[in-house]
Amino acid sequence: MKSISSESKRVEIAQNLTECRDRTLDLFQTVTPEEFTQQAHPDFSPIGWHLGHIAFVEAQWILERYAGYSPFYPQYRQLFAADGLPKQQRQNLPPYEVIQGILSEIRTHVLDYLETAPLAQQERLWRWLIQHECQHSETITFVLQLLRWPHIAHFPPSVTTPPTCHLTEMVAIPAGEFQMGYDATEAQDNEQVSHNNYVESYQIDRYPVTCKQYRDFMEAGGYQKREFWSEQGWHWLQDNPISQPLYWSDSPEWDEHPVCGVNWYEAEAYANFRGKRLPTEAEWEKAARWHPTTGETLHYPWGHSLPTTQRCNHNTLVGHTTPVNSYPSGQSPSGCWDMLGNVWEWTNSWFGGYSGFKYFPYRGYSQVYFDGQHRVLRGGSWSTRPWTLRGSFRNWYHPWVRQIFVGFRCAV
Ligand code: AVJ
Ligand code: FE
Repeated sequence: MKSISSESKRVEIAQNLTECRDRTLDLFQTVTPEEFTQQAHPDFSPIGWHLGHIAFVEAQWILERYAGYSPFYPQYRQLFAADGLPKQQRQNLPPYEVIQGILSEIRTHVLDYLETAPLAQQERLWRWLIQHECQHSETITFVLQLLRWPHIAHFPPSVTTPPTCHLTEMVAIPAGEFQMGYDATEAQDNEQVSHNNYVESYQIDRYPVTCKQYRDFMEAGGYQKREFWSEQGWHWLQDNPISQPLYWSDSPEWDEHPVCGVNWYEAEAYANFRGKRLPTEAEWEKAARWHPTTGETLHYPWGHSLPTTQRCNHNTLVGHTTPVNSYPSGQSPSGCWDMLGNVWEWTNSWFGGYSGFKYFPYRGYSQVYFDGQHRVLRGGSWSTRPWTLRGSFRNWYHPWVRQIFVGFRCAV
């Protein structure tokens, strides 16, 4: 006999899959055939590839592994597998209409199978699948920005900028333990196992670092003065002589927006300039989730209710960053703003597994990146989908990657 709760889960998963797919396809409404196949950046595949990969992963994990189908479109298997072809060889793609047809054909079978799928055993994979599409959807948005910049950056933001207030404030977090990580069915392998973590007292910026604050660093010779940079950072800067963030716009309209397009070395140099440092991921998570009076760890900075447009800038609804003080009702109990949405934030921590880590669904999803070469980012961006937006969610990049959706805040 099926329980009522498993039936409501079935409905919820079907709704999430459909809603997520609608948002993914929305991104393609204005895409030209050239944009569909073009490689915008050596580190990133064309957006058409991501779309095919989403279909391929869904067929592989649900239809082939669980539903007993034989492989779908074996002629495209190598093209759309994550480890099939080098990124430079992913431009020879079927047109959008063909990939979209494959997506919807696979989705029809998937939703049919979901009607009777044994969710007691499979729920975790279904939740993972939704989040997999979310993450590729964010990458598609990022690549589109790359393709269309500077056109986009020169459009003044449509959101009215509130008057400048005390965007330099820090909040103090007392020493003590908090429960870090996340074990629910939808948690990623790298968020588990949750654990008690003792964190020394610290202060953390109430807001992400703004463009205006970052301009101080640039005007103080930030990109010229050796003293602000670590050895590796300086080495990177000599090989990549730059003097401003990627996608930088000098227009004062962006002054209160978070700086973005900086890599970990630039974030570190800025922090040194201020006599600060980057927070560890435990410090970041405690500031975002821990409730000072109850000691409880919240799912989101504001509590346990799902993200909304009132709480934070996410889900590509606004279409760009917003001033860092735009979402008062998104504050954490400690008083930090913009912890979720707007920009991902670099932390000082290397990506690694928590104690008790077990890979899911495959080793290459997280574990191969526990290599001491990737720094953790937290918080999600203006294009992060709601299903991958939470206080425990971890992202990771090489420290030299300059990504438009990435900023930071400092600690002391
Ligand atoms: C965690 C965002 C770095 O997009 O490469 C997608 C997520 N893993 N498919 C990525 C992922 C497999 C991953 N990031
Ligand atoms: Fe993938």
